[in-house]
Amino acid sequence: MKPVKILVIGACGQIGTELTAALRIRYGAASVIAADRFPALRDDASYYQLNVLDRDMLNHLICAEKVTQIYLLAAILSAVGEQDMKAAWELNMGGLLNVLRVAVLQGVEKVFWPSSIAVFGPGAPKHRCAQHDLTEPQTVYGISKRAGEHFCNYYFEQYGLDVRSIRYPGLISHSSKPGGGTTDYAVEIFHQAMTGNSYTCYLTEDTCLPMMYMPDAVRAAITLMEAPANRLRVRTAYNISAMSFAPCDLAEAIRRRVPGFGISYVPDRRQAIADTWPASTCDDLARSDWDWQPEFGLETMVEDMLDKLFPQVAEPAKSYVLDDNYFFTRVDEA
Ligand code: NAD
Ligand code: SER
Repeated sequence: MKPVKILVIGACGQIGTELTAALRIRYGAASVIAADRFPALRDDASYYQLNVLDRDMLNHLICAEKVTQIYLLAAILSAVGEQDMKAAWELNMGGLLNVLRVAVLQGVEKVFWPSSIAVFGPGAPKHRCAQHDLTEPQTVYGISKRAGEHFCNYYFEQYGLDVRSIRYPGLISHSSKPGGGTTDYAVEIFHQAMTGNSYTCYLTEDTCLPMMYMPDAVRAAITLMEAPANRLRVRTAYNISAMSFAPCDLAEAIRRRVPGFGISYVPDRRQAIADTWPASTCDDLARSDWDWQPEFGLETMVEDMLDKLFPQVAEPAKSYVLDDNYFFTRVDEA
């Protein structure tokens, strides 16, 4: 068996920063390569500047580093995607198709690619939306995710490529900022609360959406990738759920710990996106096939976010690259 060599593409993003650190702790720093479109800021042998749309560069890196597993995280999220449909489609589909194709060519053993609750549209049930409920997305992001799910299944069926995927809900994290999604408010709100400001939310107070804390999201990806292949019945993408709440529920949970925290609501174009998504999903198949179980709910997530953000108040989190010792080096985006 080849030694495990993992490539994380999109490693400087919201999921990538925490997933790369977790993988390095689990498999050893030398076994995990981080790649993103940003230039490296230090002499870090395990970080590469990579454009996932450049298939030759991708092929060369995977071959030279003898990569056995890929986590593909590079994407344009829902809110930004609606502003630049062409860029979102090109990156979300082009990046995935490059990775799937090169993975087959180079004999990569496993690929992880995240899908999203955005595959569902207004025709799906609002509550406990199930794995095989109607997927008629109304955003270019959701369309790219649903098409991507089918391509993952296609590569599994046609080429035997072991691709695994999760439909993530909105993700909440403290160590990097979110990347232009509809659920970003659930991170922004903490930074405002911790700096003593009130928060103006771009969704209405009662817009309930499925959410998950990043430690659960990272654990889900690694657990799914380590699950025995013969237990996996879904080769498009698994529903997974942890909690569901509306902005008013989150504000109230924060206010219980930050007295006087104020919030107002001025819905913008992201409201129309949120309105097409389910409020909660049913993840029975993930629970039975690979023993998925979330650890964080609303109260425990808020408690942990406030604890972790407290030392960062003077300097709110930005995007980071990781060095070999799991140290974050901040990337100053132009
Ligand atoms: P993000 O925007 O924070 O990070 C994406 C990373 O990809 C960034 O660091 C960016 O620099 C990099 N990237 C962009 N273009 C690239 C290119 N051409 N080549 C290489 N790298 C490039 O996104 P995220 O929130 O970490 O999401 C990661 C994945 O998870 C995406 O597929 C997203 O759709 C999915 N997802 C995220 C959420 C969420 O709430 N964050 C929810 C559901 C699904
Ligand atoms: N959090 C993501 C978004 O809002 C869902 O995929 O785009």
